[in-house]
Amino acid sequence: MKIGNEFEKRRRYLLDQLGNSSIGVVFAAKEIKRNGEGYYPFRQDSDFFYLTGFTETDAIAVFAPGREEGEYILFNRPHDPELEVWVGPCAGQEGAVRDYGADQSFAIRDAGKIITSIISGRERVFYNAGGHPAFDHRIMNWIKRLESKGRQGVNVPTDLVNIGKITHEMRLRKDEAEIATLKRAADITAAAHLRTMQHCQVGMLEYELEAELMYEFVRGGGQDTAFENIVASGASSCVLHYTENNRRIENGKLVMIDAGVEYNHYAADISRTFPANGKFSEEQKAIYQAVLETQEAVIGMVRPGIAWIDLQHASERLITEKLVALGILQGKVESLVAAGAYKPFYMHRIGHWIGLDDHDVGKYKIGEMWRILEPGMTLTIEPGIYIRDDIPGVDKKWHDIGIRIEDEVLVTEDGYEVLTVGVPKRVGEIEALMANR
Ligand code: GLY
Ligand code: MN
Ligand code: MN
Repeated sequence: MKIGNEFEKRRRYLLDQLGNSSIGVVFAAKEIKRNGEGYYPFRQDSDFFYLTGFTETDAIAVFAPGREEGEYILFNRPHDPELEVWVGPCAGQEGAVRDYGADQSFAIRDAGKIITSIISGRERVFYNAGGHPAFDHRIMNWIKRLESKGRQGVNVPTDLVNIGKITHEMRLRKDEAEIATLKRAADITAAAHLRTMQHCQVGMLEYELEAELMYEFVRGGGQDTAFENIVASGASSCVLHYTENNRRIENGKLVMIDAGVEYNHYAADISRTFPANGKFSEEQKAIYQAVLETQEAVIGMVRPGIAWIDLQHASERLITEKLVALGILQGKVESLVAAGAYKPFYMHRIGHWIGLDDHDVGKYKIGEMWRILEPGMTLTIEPGIYIRDDIPGVDKKWHDIGIRIEDEVLVTEDGYEVLTVGVPKRVGEIEALMANR
């Protein structure tokens, strides 16, 4: 089946950025052995997918600006009737051209010879460095092979550059197709979180609730989780990346769920926190409101032109103010913020870019300057307050309250759009929903 034209647009942009003295080489992900004859489920390299839409392993995409025979060359598996009996049809060389828009396609076994000849005469090779040590070795071998022909007048590239320098900046600004896919992933994930609130019962095991998440992920057409599911109740809600998910959910405790589906290679990432028995205690509600008000205020700041770090600083100040108002911190807000007094309670960042990867690519700081938000960027806003019982000087009525509220936000032309709608986060809404379980 022919893929959408967004991939072609991305390749055109990349080719123009590379220019005629450079070449781009992007390796597909490798299959990873699991045991005996088995492999882990295959997941394509994000840059490779972004540029090609091609989902098979054993492939290399070459981008050669100005090359007469074709600028986009895909090396992939030729048809293998014996293998295809087991794994189904692969694209083969004709599929690479017909369905994936390659100008030329060759069998992967011929890649070394052909790529060596394509890179000769270019000054720079851009490639997905760091993806796998085998990729670095192959690039070096091709260059060495060319160097041995130096006396025949062959020009050898001198600069090796991580292609992420171009692709990561591209991926930071989502195109329409990406936003549509992110919204679908967000919808599936919102439905999954909603289902956990509807199915939570005191006495359940955390993994039983995790099963409700997975039910919606698979039913919605997701292929995987974007990261390990976090279903954390009671004291575990204060463990940022708790993934054991095997505690019994107790009456009077909170349940913090941080989970997202991977849908057509794109991630979703939502956190919600709710009371196991459906009703927040006074203390839980107070901390919950502090996190929610912080989250809503920071989301409200999102617009083109604001620096990402300003969102971080705003969250630190707001959480400090609220901890002071609750009597958990004592002192002047200004000096408490400066001293980092919020850190035992709020020790992580306000959020991250999200896209093909949950913690998506894209620099936060360019040189000495923090990134300024632009339309098309997508990020999570996920403040939290976590009150472990070993933080000195805190009344024990606050102990084991761990709350994170996380949504995904798109920067629009004049502000923001929350992508993860469809799962409540107001106290009244959550309690009303859970009262009708
Ligand atoms: N689930 C990891 C995160 O929210 O960043
Ligand atoms: Mn998360
Ligand atoms: Mn996140």
